[in-house]
Amino acid sequence: MSKVAIGARTLLYPLPAVLVGADVDGKPNFSTYAWCGIAGSKPPMLTVAFQRKRHTFKGVKQNGTYSVNIPSAELVRETDYCGLVSGRDTDKVADCKFSVFYGKLANAPLISECPVNIECSVVHVLDVGSHDLVVGRIEEVHATESCLTDGRPDAVKMDPFLWAMPPVNRYCRFGEPIGEAFRVGEQLKAKGKGKGKAEP
Ligand SMILES: Cc1cc2nc3c(=O)[nH]c(=O)nc-3n(C[C@H](O)[C@H](O)[C@H](O)COP(=O)(O)O)c2cc1C
Repeated sequence: MSKVAIGARTLLYPLPAVLVGADVDGKPNFSTYAWCGIAGSKPPMLTVAFQRKRHTFKGVKQNGTYSVNIPSAELVRETDYCGLVSGRDTDKVADCKFSVFYGKLANAPLISECPVNIECSVVHVLDVGSHDLVVGRIEEVHATESCLTDGRPDAVKMDPFLWAMPPVNRYCRFGEPIGEAFRVGEQLKAKGKGKGKAEP
């Protein structure tokens, strides 16, 4: 395979597109984040990489809390919009007609229209250069009842989407299933080897 070195760049695929919320000066604000991920399970931890100028980040620092709301494909316009404009200049909740509710944490606003809402409390803020990486503990998760299968959020019912970076630069739904997780690789296992329980 012929390879081309293209430099040290932030290329990780696929990336999510989620709506991160915080109360800023007492008012709910949401913006779009792709640099977001699970960092651990015991305790459950989630990271978001914020540029320091983000209005939302101001609220995260004010309250020590934030929310991660996973939009479904029908909210693609609203999700992109929340990544284009700042809460400094407009009321994104009104513009997007979001219904906001609060859960366990006082200042982590949640979007009712999103099928999954995650409440986080800030544990660490790490200066990683261009961004501050906020490591938050997941305190509670809310899910729309119709998106559950056996009590767990079902990605097929949630209909979430990804952001494919330029040159594609598009939001895309999940594609075709290509294999069962923690199962399809079994075929390559040598007999009697690698019997451990698999989890990320
Ligand atoms: C698809 C997408 C992904 C984004 N990911 C991030 C991110 O990971 N970190 C970040 O600081 N900004 C990210 N942004 C930019 C912010 O969402 C954008 O600057 C937003 O207007 C900030 O709003 P605020 O000032 O109200 O917080 C992203 C924008 C889009 C459209």
